[in-house]
Amino acid sequence: MMVFTGAGVSAESGVPTFRDALTGLWEKFDPEALATPQGFERDPALVWGWYEWRRILVQRAEPNPAHCAIAALAGKLARLTLVTQNVDDLHERAGSPRVLHLHGRIGRPYCAACGGEYPTPREAPPLPASGKRIEPPRCHRCGGRVRPGVVWFGESLPRGPWEEAVEAAHGCDAFLCVGTSSIVEPAAGLTRAAIAAGSVTIQVNTDRTYLDEAVTLNLRGPAARMLPQLVDQVWPET
Ligand code: OAD
Repeated sequence: MMVFTGAGVSAESGVPTFRDALTGLWEKFDPEALATPQGFERDPALVWGWYEWRRILVQRAEPNPAHCAIAALAGKLARLTLVTQNVDDLHERAGSPRVLHLHGRIGRPYCAACGGEYPTPREAPPLPASGKRIEPPRCHRCGGRVRPGVVWFGESLPRGPWEEAVEAAHGCDAFLCVGTSSIVEPAAGLTRAAIAAGSVTIQVNTDRTYLDEAVTLNLRGPAARMLPQLVDQVWPET
C-alpha cells in the first residue's frame, strides 16, 4: 500500500492548509514572495520570519488520530510506503517508522551556501506573531545565510524520496490519498500514476477534488475521524 498525505491530514492538529478558503495559508500570504528562492533573495527577513512562525506552530502541534491511524497501518501490512507533501514531522511523532518527505522538512533548516545543517532548539519557543520579520541566522561553519528546509516553487524535489514515491505509486495494490487538493505538480501526479496503474485508490477529503470521479472510493469527511474508522474496519485488531 502507498499512503500519500497533504495538509488536510495535519489540519486537525491546528496546522493551516494551503488553499482553504477561510484559513488557508495562501489566502493570507503571497506564495510568490514567501515560497520561492527569488522571494528569499529579495527579503530574507520576511521569509525567515514566516517560516519561523510556521516551524514553531508545527513544533507546538500534536499528531491527531489520522496520523496515529496511518502509523498503526504500518504494523498491519506487509509493505507500506508513506509519502507526504507536508513539511511537519507529525507522522514521525505519531510513530510512522519511515516517511518520504517530498517538500522537505520545516524543522531542518540548512545553510544556503554550503548545505550544512543548522540545528534548531528542542524546546519550542513562544509563537512569534505571523508576519514578524526575523533576520535569518548565519551558518556556524561558513557564515552563509541559513534557509528554511523546505522545497520552494521552482526547486526540484529531493531525488531519492521522489524516485521511491514514483516507484511505489506505479507498483502498489492500494493507494490511500489523504487531505490533499492534488493540484501541485509533480507530487499530484502520484495519484494519477496509481490510478493509471490499476491500483485500488481511496481518497479521504472533507471536500471534492478534481480526482473524485477517477478514484475507486471517496471517503468524505475529516481525516481524524475517517482514518481511524477505515483502519479499524478493514484491519480489525485480532
Ligand atoms: P491544500 O491546502 O492544497 O489542500 C488541502 C486539502 O485537504 C484540501 O483538498 C482540503 O479539502 C483537504 N482538507 C482540509 N481539511 C481536511 C481534514 N480535516 N481532513 C481531510 N481533508 C482535509 O494542501 P496540499 O494538497 O497539501 O507546497 O498542497 C500541496 C502543496 O501545495 C503543499 O505541500 C505546498 C502547497 O503549495 C509547497 O509549499 C511546495
